Amino acid sequence: MESLISLMRCKMVMITSMMMMMIKYGKAQVHYVGGGKANWSPNINLSDWSSHQTFHSGDWLFFGFDKNQYNVLEVNKTSYEKCIESDFIKNITRGGRDVFQLTEAKTYYFICGRGYCFNGMKVAIVVSDIEPSPAPAPAPHGNRSPEVPADVITPLLLLLLLIVTSPVMYHVDFL
Ligand SMILES: *[C@@H]1O[C@H](CO)[C@@H](O)[C@H](O)[C@H]1NC(C)=O
Ligand SMILES: *[C@@H]1O[C@H](CO)[C@@H](O)[C@H](O)[C@H]1NC(C)=O
Ligand SMILES: *[C@@H]1O[C@H](CO)[C@@H](O)[C@H](O)[C@H]1NC(C)=O
Repeated sequence: MESLISLMRCKMVMITSMMMMMIKYGKAQVHYVGGGKANWSPNINLSDWSSHQTFHSGDWLFFGFDKNQYNVLEVNKTSYEKCIESDFIKNITRGGRDVFQLTEAKTYYFICGRGYCFNGMKVAIVVSDIEPSPAPAPAPHGNRSPEVPADVITPLLLLLLLIVTSPVMYHVDFL
């Protein structure tokens, strides 16, 4: 009995922490730069792609490219505009299937070195904050509703607790 209860308790903790993770990171999206798995490329209009995307802090960028030809460097605004590849902020280049997490609400700038930036192989990513939930009042211009409203979370957790603990109750009742 003792072990059953501790097993249940363990399960409960696991489920609860998984739920918390889902709530915290559930909204994070992966954006394939250029709109595909190999689209960090000079043939893609990256500004056009970027302007049709909505980036939120916590989201990820995926850069897919031929590492023998291209690279990905995070740079500042000036370097982005002028295609300066020295003194970059971060070298994202690894194997050509590289990811980068947008952790802050700000504009990130990425360029390809080796001259390709001058051909338009660069992108600015405007990141906004995740809207706070619950919102005290409906945002006047916002058209995004939170995917997990706070008033759903509590009943959901209670329901989970009920489901997880009920076998224990059942067991006790029929002893
Ligand atoms: C990329 O697309 C934008 C429109 O989003 C356009 O203004 C620009 O001229 C395009 N650039 C190239 C190189 O085609
Ligand atoms: C951007 O980076 C370049 C190269 O490191 C540097 O010279 C320049 O001062 C930086 N600009 C800003 C606005 O930080
Ligand atoms: C970026 O990192 C890759 C992999 O570590 C390396 O091969 C490449 O030389 C680096 N590029 C620059 C410009 O530092």
